Parts: sequence; C-alpha cells; structure tokens
Amino acid sequence: MKTDISSSASSQHSSFFDLTNRVALVTGTSRGLGQYFARALARAGADLILTSRNKASLQAFESELRELGCRCASVSLDVCSEQSIQAAISDASAAFGKIDILVNNAGMNIRKPATEVTWEDWNQILDTNLRGSFFVAQAVAKGMIKREYGRIINIGSVTSVAGYAGLGPYGASRGGIRQLTMSLADDWGPHGITVNCLAPGWFKTAQNKVMYENKEWVQYLCDRIPLKRPGRPDDLDGPVVFLASEESRYVTGQILLVDGGISTGATRALPASPVGAPKAT
Ligand SMILES: NC(=O)c1ccc[n+]([C@@H]2O[C@H](COP(=O)([O-])OP(=O)(O)OC[C@H]3O[C@@H](n4cnc5c(N)ncnc54)[C@H](OP(=O)(O)O)[C@@H]3O)[C@@H](O)[C@H]2O)c1
Repeated sequence: MKTDISSSASSQHSSFFDLTNRVALVTGTSRGLGQYFARALARAGADLILTSRNKASLQAFESELRELGCRCASVSLDVCSEQSIQAAISDASAAFGKIDILVNNAGMNIRKPATEVTWEDWNQILDTNLRGSFFVAQAVAKGMIKREYGRIINIGSVTSVAGYAGLGPYGASRGGIRQLTMSLADDWGPHGITVNCLAPGWFKTAQNKVMYENKEWVQYLCDRIPLKRPGRPDDLDGPVVFLASEESRYVTGQILLVDGGISTGATRALPASPVGAPKAT
C-alpha cells in the first residue's frame, strides 16, 4: 500500500506543543513572568492552577484565563512555609484531580552590595527561591510519580551560570536551582518525569523596573547582549510551552537560557566598529 508521507507527517505534527487535557500549576502568578508563563500554557490548551500569598489578588487574572477557554483554579501559597506548601499542593491536586506540569516560578530578589547583605536578606532569598522550589517540587512529584508522568520547570536565571555584582545571594539561589534541576532529573526520571531549568536573562518586571528607568544602565546592559535588547516576557512563551509539552520528552536535567545571548560572556575582543566597516589590516 502506498503511504502518503506528507499527510501522515502533517497529521502527526498537528498536535505538536498541544497541552489539551494537561493541568499546569504555575507558582507566583499575581504579576510578572508567572502570568506570562500561565497565559502561554493556557493558549497551548492547558488547564491552570494559579498561586499567590494573597489569593484574592488572582481574581482578575483568573477571569482573563477563563476567557481563553481555560479551566482555572487559584490557591494560596507561601513557599516559605512548609504547612502552606502542603495545603496548597493538596488543594491544587484536588482542583482538577492531578498536576501534570509544574512551573516553579515564585521568587524574589534583594539587590545590595555584598558587604551590606544581612543574615535576614540571605535567609529570605534562599528560603524563597531555593528551599521553596525544592519543597514545592517534592510535594507535586509525589502525585506525578504515582501517575508516571510529569514536567517540572524550575525557573532559574542567567545568574545560574554567571556572576553579577549586587546579586550574590540571588545568584547562589539560582545556581542552586540549576544543580537541583540536575539532581531531581536523576531522582525522578525513572518515573517518567522530566525536570528542566528555564533561565531568563534580563526581563523588565515589577521585581526590577527601577533598574530599567535608568537609561545609562539599560544602554550598558544592551551593549552586553548579542541580540541588543532586554527580554520581552513573551520571548519565554515558546520555551515554556516546549518544556511543558510532549515534544521535550527526551530532555531532562537541562538549563535552557533565554537571554539574548548575554550568558556567552559577550565581551568585545575588538575595538567597536560599525557592522560592514572595512576590516583593520
Ligand atoms: N524578571 C527577570 O528579569 C527575571 C530573570 C530571571 C529570573 N527571574 C525569576 O522569575 C521569577 C518571576 O520573576 P518576576 O520578575 O516576574 O518577579 P515578580 O514580578 O516580583 O513576581 C514574583 C512572584 O512570586 C511570588 N512570590 C514571591 N515570594 C513568594 C513566596 N514567599 N511564596 C509564594 N509566592 C511568592 C509573588 O506572589 P505574591 O507576592 O502575590 O505572593 C509574585 O507572583 C522569579 O523567581 C525571578 O527571580 C526573573
């Protein structure tokens, strides 16, 4: 029998990146990148569970997602409280009967010269970004292990792989996230769970908007980014949907940097010269 290769290939590919019937939990969706991650997953067909320490703050965003045709639920979550994590994951698992995808996005930052960082600053950053992400993943993975399926996406940062003055404890938390990702991939891979780290570069959000008001600093930043601009939150749509989808099934323990190339080091080894200018001889 003659097989129509082109039509069988296209019908096979028509479900690429389709998240229909998948349930995604995105932590920290009251503002910022978490909302972009949730919106991208909802557009790909997933049902969504949203979180904030103040559940009431999620109402408007929940309505927006429902308008996209997405089933949506909200739970209270403080990732610095073990009790809150247990209650939130129990509520989230009950909402639609399962969690297929976790985006470990909740996080915070305190920018200070290293000599001014206090004991409390260190604890707050590491407890939120690193300990919180681990225990949320642990609570969610228990259900995933029973169902032999899961996609865990830990949000890292370009600071997972590079050092920046003023971001010591934050960088330590994000470097830890990268290491945690590799270890959890090894722990849970045998149960059909992939664990990856999605690492944004420099994106303007509520967490850092003061920085972007300083034109000189923005110019300094863009000079070091090969693609010559800071990230736009929707630059992360494709990468998060890929890592959440069936199409990333053989990718685990990896860091996907979405940073315009700043993690290359991007330091000029030649004096500045306009593109196309004659080469120095
Ligand atoms: N913006 C960037 O350029 C960039 C780059 C790389 C990585 N990241 C990381 O990406 C994530 C989102 O960044 P963003 O810029 O969108 O931050 P953001 O605007 O400050 O939003 C942070 C979110 O995390 C939640 N959160 C903070 N502390 C929490 C806690 N103890 N328990 C539960 N939720 C908590 C907040 O929710 P509530 O306050 O409502 O509880 C909020 O929804 C963060 O982890 C950040 O470190 C950001």
